[in-house]
Amino acid sequence: KIYPVILSGGAGTRLWPLSRAVLPKQLLPLVTDKTMLQETALRVRGWPGLMAPLVVCGNDHRFLVAEQLRDVGITPHAIMLEPSGRNTAPAVAAAAQFLKAQDPDAVMLVLPADHVIEKNEAFRMAVERAAALVQDGSLATFGVVPTAPETGYGYIRRGEPLPGCDDCYRIERFVEKPDTDTAKGFVTDGGYYWNSGMFMFRADRFLDEIGAHAPAIASAAANAVADAYRDLDFCRLDEAAFGASPSDSIDYAVMEHTRDGVVVSADIGWSDVGSWSALADVQQRDANGNVQRGDVYLDNTSNTLVRAESRIVAVVGVQDLVVVETQDAVLVAHKDQVQRVKNVVEHLKVQE
Ligand code: GDD
Ligand code: MG
Repeated sequence: KIYPVILSGGAGTRLWPLSRAVLPKQLLPLVTDKTMLQETALRVRGWPGLMAPLVVCGNDHRFLVAEQLRDVGITPHAIMLEPSGRNTAPAVAAAAQFLKAQDPDAVMLVLPADHVIEKNEAFRMAVERAAALVQDGSLATFGVVPTAPETGYGYIRRGEPLPGCDDCYRIERFVEKPDTDTAKGFVTDGGYYWNSGMFMFRADRFLDEIGAHAPAIASAAANAVADAYRDLDFCRLDEAAFGASPSDSIDYAVMEHTRDGVVVSADIGWSDVGSWSALADVQQRDANGNVQRGDVYLDNTSNTLVRAESRIVAVVGVQDLVVVETQDAVLVAHKDQVQRVKNVVEHLKVQE
Protein backbone atom coordinates (compact mmCIF):
# COMPACT_ATOMS: atom_id res chain seq x y z
CA LYS A 1 0.00 0.00 0.00
CA ILE A 2 1.13 3.51 -0.82
CA TYR A 3 0.55 6.28 1.70
CA PRO A 4 0.82 9.88 0.54
CA VAL A 5 2.68 11.81 3.24
CA ILE A 6 1.92 15.50 2.87
CA LEU A 7 4.47 17.85 4.42
CA SER A 8 2.65 20.96 5.49
CA GLY A 9 5.04 22.58 7.91
CA GLY A 10 7.14 25.22 6.19
CA ALA A 11 6.89 28.95 6.73
CA GLY A 12 7.04 30.16 3.12
CA THR A 13 8.97 33.27 4.12
CA ARG A 14 9.77 34.25 0.55
CA LEU A 15 6.07 34.89 0.00
CA TRP A 16 5.88 37.54 2.70
CA PRO A 17 3.70 39.53 3.38
CA LEU A 18 0.96 37.17 2.29
CA SER A 19 2.49 34.05 3.82
CA ARG A 20 2.88 34.43 7.58
CA ALA A 21 3.69 32.16 10.49
CA VAL A 22 0.01 31.91 11.44
CA LEU A 23 -1.09 31.35 7.87
CA PRO A 24 1.77 30.00 5.77
CA LYS A 25 1.58 29.59 2.02
CA GLN A 26 0.45 25.96 1.93
CA LEU A 27 -2.71 26.97 3.78
CA LEU A 28 -3.50 29.83 1.38
CA PRO A 29 -5.38 29.82 -1.93
CA LEU A 30 -2.38 31.11 -3.84
CA VAL A 31 -2.89 29.79 -7.34
CA THR A 32 -6.47 28.57 -7.49
CA ASP A 33 -9.46 29.08 -5.23
CA LYS A 34 -8.35 26.07 -3.17
CA THR A 35 -5.44 26.15 -0.78
CA MET A 36 -2.15 24.51 -1.77
CA LEU A 37 -2.76 21.80 0.85
CA GLN A 38 -6.21 21.07 -0.54
CA GLU A 39 -4.84 20.91 -4.08
CA THR A 40 -2.13 18.49 -2.97
CA ALA A 41 -4.56 16.14 -1.23
CA LEU A 42 -7.06 16.25 -4.09
CA ARG A 43 -4.35 15.61 -6.68
CA VAL A 44 -3.75 12.06 -5.47
CA ARG A 45 -7.26 11.22 -4.33
CA GLY A 46 -8.65 8.01 -5.73
CA TRP A 47 -5.47 6.81 -7.42
CA PRO A 48 -5.31 3.02 -7.55
CA GLY A 49 -3.26 1.62 -4.66
CA LEU A 50 -3.10 4.93 -2.81
CA MET A 51 -4.38 5.26 0.72
CA ALA A 52 -5.72 8.42 2.34
CA PRO A 53 -2.96 10.93 3.11
CA LEU A 54 -0.96 11.25 6.29
CA VAL A 55 -0.50 14.99 6.83
CA VAL A 56 2.42 16.22 8.95
CA CYS A 57 2.09 19.77 10.22
CA GLY A 58 2.89 22.08 13.09
CA ASN A 59 0.75 21.83 16.20
CA ASP A 60 -0.46 25.42 15.75
CA HIS A 61 -2.00 24.61 12.40
CA ARG A 62 -3.93 21.54 13.45
CA PHE A 63 -7.43 23.00 13.26
CA LEU A 64 -6.83 24.81 9.99
CA VAL A 65 -5.41 21.67 8.40
CA ALA A 66 -8.24 19.48 9.66
CA GLU A 67 -10.83 21.98 8.48
CA GLN A 68 -9.28 22.50 5.06
CA LEU A 69 -9.25 18.76 4.42
CA ARG A 70 -12.82 18.38 5.64
CA ASP A 71 -13.93 21.23 3.38
CA VAL A 72 -12.87 19.29 0.29
CA GLY A 73 -14.21 15.99 1.56
CA ILE A 74 -10.92 14.34 2.44
CA THR A 75 -10.66 12.10 5.47
CA PRO A 76 -6.93 11.82 6.22
CA HIS A 77 -5.28 8.59 7.26
CA ALA A 78 -3.93 10.66 10.14
CA ILE A 79 -2.76 14.17 11.00
CA MET A 80 0.60 14.10 12.74
CA LEU A 81 1.51 17.15 14.80
CA GLU A 82 5.00 18.49 15.33
CA PRO A 83 5.39 20.33 18.63
CA SER A 84 8.16 22.37 17.01
CA GLY A 85 9.52 22.64 13.47
CA ARG A 86 12.63 20.53 12.86
CA ASN A 87 12.64 20.68 9.04
CA THR A 88 11.71 17.78 6.78
CA ALA A 89 14.03 14.94 7.83
CA PRO A 90 12.52 14.43 11.31
CA ALA A 91 9.00 14.92 9.91
CA VAL A 92 9.49 12.20 7.30
CA ALA A 93 11.24 9.92 9.80
CA ALA A 94 8.33 10.24 12.25
CA ALA A 95 5.84 9.51 9.47
CA ALA A 96 7.89 6.46 8.47
CA GLN A 97 7.92 5.13 12.04
CA PHE A 98 4.20 5.66 12.36
CA LEU A 99 3.35 3.92 9.08
CA LYS A 100 5.78 1.04 9.46
CA ALA A 101 4.27 0.17 12.84
CA GLN A 102 0.87 -0.22 11.16
CA ASP A 103 2.02 -1.76 7.92
CA PRO A 104 5.52 -3.29 7.65
CA ASP A 105 5.37 -3.01 3.85
CA ALA A 106 4.18 0.59 3.79
CA VAL A 107 5.42 2.67 0.86
CA MET A 108 5.50 6.44 1.33
CA LEU A 109 4.89 9.03 -1.35
CA VAL A 110 6.26 12.21 0.22
CA LEU A 111 4.58 15.33 -1.15
CA PRO A 112 5.34 18.92 -0.21
CA ALA A 113 2.07 20.78 0.28
CA ASP A 114 3.10 23.74 -1.83
CA HIS A 115 3.72 22.63 -5.39
CA VAL A 116 1.88 23.13 -8.63
CA ILE A 117 1.65 20.14 -10.98
CA GLU A 118 -0.07 20.92 -14.23
CA LYS A 119 -0.06 17.47 -15.82
CA ASN A 120 -1.72 15.27 -13.28
CA GLU A 121 -2.00 12.17 -15.45
CA ALA A 122 1.72 12.32 -16.29
CA PHE A 123 2.40 12.66 -12.59
CA ARG A 124 0.28 9.61 -11.83
CA MET A 125 2.29 7.64 -14.38
CA ALA A 126 5.58 8.83 -12.87
CA VAL A 127 4.39 7.63 -9.46
CA GLU A 128 3.51 4.28 -11.00
CA ARG A 129 7.01 3.95 -12.45
CA ALA A 130 8.53 4.87 -9.09
CA ALA A 131 6.27 2.41 -7.27
CA ALA A 132 7.77 -0.42 -9.27
CA LEU A 133 11.32 0.76 -8.53
CA VAL A 134 11.05 1.18 -4.77
CA GLN A 135 10.11 -2.42 -4.09
CA ASP A 136 13.80 -3.39 -4.25
CA GLY A 137 14.65 -0.82 -1.57
CA SER A 138 15.50 2.17 -3.74
CA LEU A 139 14.78 5.71 -2.63
CA ALA A 140 13.09 7.40 -5.55
CA THR A 141 13.11 11.07 -6.48
CA PHE A 142 11.19 12.76 -9.27
CA GLY A 143 13.53 14.72 -11.52
CA VAL A 144 12.56 17.82 -13.46
CA VAL A 145 14.63 19.05 -16.40
CA PRO A 146 16.15 22.35 -15.22
CA THR A 147 15.42 25.52 -17.15
CA ALA A 148 17.56 27.95 -15.14
CA PRO A 149 20.45 27.83 -12.65
CA GLU A 150 18.15 28.09 -9.63
CA THR A 151 20.04 27.92 -6.37
CA GLY A 152 17.01 27.08 -4.25
CA TYR A 153 16.75 23.52 -5.54
CA GLY A 154 18.54 20.22 -5.18
CA TYR A 155 20.33 18.88 -8.30
CA ILE A 156 20.49 15.23 -9.26
CA ARG A 157 23.14 13.87 -11.57
CA ARG A 158 21.75 10.85 -13.32
CA GLY A 159 23.81 7.67 -13.56
CA GLU A 160 23.09 4.40 -15.38
CA PRO A 161 19.63 3.86 -16.75
CA LEU A 162 17.51 1.36 -14.86
CA PRO A 163 16.27 -1.59 -16.83
CA GLY A 164 12.54 -1.98 -17.16
CA CYS A 165 11.77 1.64 -16.33
CA ASP A 166 11.58 4.21 -19.06
CA ASP A 167 13.67 7.33 -18.31
CA CYS A 168 14.67 6.16 -14.82
CA TYR A 169 18.25 6.26 -13.57
CA ARG A 170 20.47 5.55 -10.66
CA ILE A 171 21.46 8.75 -8.85
CA GLU A 172 25.15 9.39 -9.31
CA ARG A 173 25.23 12.50 -7.23
CA PHE A 174 22.76 14.60 -5.29
CA VAL A 175 23.70 18.21 -4.55
CA GLU A 176 21.32 20.25 -2.41
CA LYS A 177 21.16 24.01 -3.11
CA PRO A 178 24.45 24.63 -4.97
CA ASP A 179 25.86 28.13 -5.43
CA THR A 180 25.14 29.99 -8.67
CA ASP A 181 28.30 29.01 -10.53
CA THR A 182 27.88 25.34 -9.64
CA ALA A 183 24.22 25.48 -10.66
CA LYS A 184 25.16 27.07 -13.99
CA GLY A 185 27.60 24.24 -14.64
CA PHE A 186 24.92 21.65 -13.85
CA VAL A 187 22.42 23.21 -16.24
CA THR A 188 24.92 23.39 -19.12
CA ASP A 189 26.11 19.84 -18.43
CA GLY A 190 22.72 18.42 -19.36
CA GLY A 191 22.97 15.32 -17.17
CA TYR A 192 21.27 16.93 -14.19
CA TYR A 193 17.71 17.17 -12.98
CA TRP A 194 16.15 19.44 -10.41
CA ASN A 195 14.97 17.53 -7.42
CA SER A 196 11.23 18.17 -7.30
CA GLY A 197 11.20 17.57 -3.54
CA MET A 198 8.79 14.65 -3.84
CA PHE A 199 10.07 11.23 -2.83
CA MET A 200 8.94 7.65 -2.78
CA PHE A 201 10.33 4.75 -0.74
CA ARG A 202 9.44 1.92 1.57
CA ALA A 203 9.11 3.26 5.13
CA ASP A 204 11.48 0.57 6.46
CA ARG A 205 14.14 1.45 3.90
CA PHE A 206 13.94 5.15 4.67
CA LEU A 207 14.39 4.34 8.35
CA ASP A 208 17.47 2.20 7.55
CA GLU A 209 19.00 5.06 5.61
CA ILE A 210 18.26 7.83 8.07
CA GLY A 211 19.49 5.54 10.86
CA ALA A 212 22.77 5.17 8.99
CA HIS A 213 23.26 8.78 7.89
CA ALA A 214 21.51 10.82 10.60
CA PRO A 215 21.14 8.56 13.65
CA ALA A 216 20.27 11.39 16.05
CA ILE A 217 17.28 12.35 13.90
CA ALA A 218 16.22 8.73 13.50
CA SER A 219 16.21 8.03 17.23
CA ALA A 220 14.50 11.30 18.15
CA ALA A 221 11.75 10.58 15.64
CA ALA A 222 11.36 7.00 16.88
CA ASN A 223 11.02 8.21 20.47
CA ALA A 224 8.61 10.97 19.47
CA VAL A 225 6.32 8.40 17.82
CA ALA A 226 6.67 5.83 20.62
CA ASP A 227 5.63 8.47 23.18
CA ALA A 228 3.09 10.20 20.95
CA TYR A 229 -0.31 11.06 22.34
CA ARG A 230 -3.03 9.87 20.00
CA ASP A 231 -6.66 10.78 19.98
CA LEU A 232 -9.36 10.50 17.35
CA ASP A 233 -8.18 13.50 15.40
CA PHE A 234 -4.44 13.78 15.82
CA CYS A 235 -1.19 11.99 16.51
CA ARG A 236 0.73 14.44 18.71
CA LEU A 237 4.45 13.72 18.63
CA ASP A 238 6.09 13.82 22.03
CA GLU A 239 7.41 17.33 22.63
CA ALA A 240 10.63 16.53 24.49
CA ALA A 241 11.59 13.64 22.21
CA PHE A 242 10.89 15.51 18.98
CA GLY A 243 12.49 18.68 20.27
CA ALA A 244 15.69 16.73 20.85
CA SER A 245 16.05 16.10 17.10
CA PRO A 246 18.59 18.07 15.15
CA SER A 247 16.97 20.27 12.52
CA ASP A 248 17.78 19.16 8.97
CA SER A 249 16.16 18.56 5.60
CA ILE A 250 15.67 15.14 4.05
CA ASP A 251 17.90 16.32 1.21
CA TYR A 252 20.95 17.09 3.34
CA ALA A 253 20.37 14.36 5.91
CA VAL A 254 19.63 11.45 3.59
CA MET A 255 19.53 12.11 -0.15
CA GLU A 256 23.05 13.54 -0.42
CA HIS A 257 24.41 10.42 1.29
CA THR A 258 22.37 7.41 0.27
CA ARG A 259 23.74 5.03 -2.34
CA ASP A 260 20.32 3.72 -3.22
CA GLY A 261 18.84 6.83 -4.76
CA VAL A 262 17.10 6.63 -8.12
CA VAL A 263 15.54 9.32 -10.23
CA VAL A 264 12.37 9.03 -12.27
CA SER A 265 12.31 11.77 -14.84
CA ALA A 266 9.02 13.57 -14.58
CA ASP A 267 7.69 15.94 -17.23
CA ILE A 268 4.67 16.92 -15.20
CA GLY A 269 4.42 20.70 -15.42
CA TRP A 270 5.97 20.97 -11.98
CA SER A 271 6.70 24.15 -10.20
CA ASP A 272 7.57 25.08 -6.69
CA VAL A 273 5.77 28.31 -6.02
CA GLY A 274 8.50 29.24 -3.61
CA SER A 275 8.85 32.90 -4.56
CA TRP A 276 6.72 35.69 -5.97
CA SER A 277 8.24 35.36 -9.42
CA ALA A 278 7.62 31.59 -9.43
CA LEU A 279 4.04 32.27 -8.45
CA ALA A 280 3.67 34.80 -11.28
CA ASP A 281 4.98 32.17 -13.70
CA VAL A 282 2.17 29.72 -12.98
CA GLN A 283 -0.62 32.25 -13.30
CA GLN A 284 -2.55 33.69 -16.18
CA ARG A 285 -0.85 36.82 -17.55
CA ASP A 286 -2.53 39.61 -19.45
CA ALA A 287 -1.28 40.96 -22.79
CA ASN A 288 1.46 42.96 -21.04
CA GLY A 289 2.68 40.02 -19.02
CA ASN A 290 1.10 41.26 -15.81
CA VAL A 291 -0.59 39.11 -13.20
CA GLN A 292 -3.18 40.89 -11.11
CA ARG A 293 -5.37 39.85 -8.25
CA GLY A 294 -7.74 42.02 -6.24
CA ASP A 295 -8.59 45.67 -6.69
CA VAL A 296 -5.77 46.69 -9.00
CA TYR A 297 -5.29 49.52 -11.50
CA LEU A 298 -2.39 49.26 -13.94
CA ASP A 299 -1.15 51.79 -16.46
CA ASN A 300 1.84 51.49 -18.78
CA THR A 301 3.10 48.60 -16.68
CA SER A 302 4.50 45.27 -17.81
CA ASN A 303 5.79 41.93 -16.50
CA THR A 304 4.59 42.85 -13.04
CA LEU A 305 2.65 40.95 -10.39
CA VAL A 306 0.24 43.00 -8.32
CA ARG A 307 -1.85 41.58 -5.54
CA ALA A 308 -4.22 43.74 -3.52
CA GLU A 309 -5.80 42.17 -0.47
CA SER A 310 -7.50 45.05 1.28
CA ARG A 311 -7.05 48.30 -0.63
CA ILE A 312 -6.90 49.66 -4.16
CA VAL A 313 -3.41 49.38 -5.58
CA ALA A 314 -2.44 51.53 -8.57
CA VAL A 315 0.79 50.87 -10.42
CA VAL A 316 1.96 53.23 -13.13
CA GLY A 317 4.85 53.16 -15.57
CA VAL A 318 6.95 50.35 -14.19
CA GLN A 319 8.13 46.93 -15.24
CA ASP A 320 9.44 43.69 -13.71
CA LEU A 321 8.07 44.36 -10.23
CA VAL A 322 6.21 42.50 -7.55
CA VAL A 323 3.75 44.59 -5.54
CA VAL A 324 1.84 42.86 -2.76
CA GLU A 325 -0.48 44.75 -0.46
CA THR A 326 -1.98 43.30 2.71
CA GLN A 327 -3.76 44.81 5.69
CA ASP A 328 -0.60 45.55 7.64
CA ALA A 329 2.32 45.32 5.24
CA VAL A 330 3.28 46.14 1.65
CA LEU A 331 6.02 44.59 -0.44
CA VAL A 332 7.58 46.23 -3.49
CA ALA A 333 10.39 44.16 -5.00
CA HIS A 334 12.20 43.73 -8.27
CA LYS A 335 11.36 40.41 -9.91
CA ASP A 336 15.04 39.47 -10.09
CA GLN A 337 15.49 39.90 -6.36
CA VAL A 338 12.53 38.02 -4.98
CA GLN A 339 14.73 35.41 -3.28
CA ARG A 340 15.77 38.18 -0.91
CA VAL A 341 12.28 38.63 0.46
CA LYS A 342 13.03 36.05 3.14
CA ASN A 343 15.52 38.56 4.58
CA VAL A 344 12.61 40.86 5.37
CA VAL A 345 11.17 38.21 7.64
CA GLU A 346 14.58 37.69 9.29
CA HIS A 347 14.83 41.44 9.85
CA LEU A 348 11.35 41.62 11.39
CA LYS A 349 12.15 38.69 13.68
CA VAL A 350 15.25 40.46 14.98
CA GLN A 351 13.24 43.61 15.66
CA GLU A 352 10.57 41.82 17.66
N1 GDD B 1 5.79 18.99 8.39
C1 GDD B 1 6.81 19.79 8.07
N2 GDD B 1 7.68 20.15 9.04
N3 GDD B 1 6.92 20.21 6.81
C2 GDD B 1 7.96 21.01 6.52
C3 GDD B 1 8.91 21.43 7.47
C4 GDD B 1 8.74 20.98 8.82
O1 GDD B 1 9.51 21.29 9.74
N4 GDD B 1 9.82 22.23 6.84
C5 GDD B 1 9.43 22.30 5.56
N5 GDD B 1 8.30 21.59 5.36
C6 GDD B 1 7.56 21.40 4.12
C7 GDD B 1 7.34 22.70 3.36
O2 GDD B 1 6.07 23.25 3.67
C8 GDD B 1 7.40 22.23 1.95
O3 GDD B 1 6.12 21.76 1.56
C9 GDD B 1 8.34 21.03 1.95
O4 GDD B 1 8.34 20.57 3.30
C10 GDD B 1 9.77 21.32 1.49
O5 GDD B 1 10.35 22.30 2.34
P1 GDD B 1 10.98 23.62 1.77
O6 GDD B 1 11.49 24.42 2.91
O7 GDD B 1 10.02 24.27 0.82
O8 GDD B 1 12.22 23.04 0.99
P2 GDD B 1 12.99 23.74 -0.19
O9 GDD B 1 12.05 24.29 -1.20
O10 GDD B 1 13.97 24.69 0.40
O11 GDD B 1 13.83 22.53 -0.85
C11 GDD B 1 13.21 21.30 -1.17
O12 GDD B 1 12.33 21.40 -2.26
C12 GDD B 1 12.95 21.74 -3.54
C13 GDD B 1 11.89 21.75 -4.59
O13 GDD B 1 10.84 22.54 -4.24
C14 GDD B 1 14.35 20.31 -1.47
O14 GDD B 1 13.79 19.00 -1.52
C15 GDD B 1 15.06 20.64 -2.79
O15 GDD B 1 16.00 19.62 -3.09
C16 GDD B 1 14.03 20.72 -3.89
O16 GDD B 1 14.66 21.07 -5.11
MG1 MG C 1 10.03 24.69 -1.23
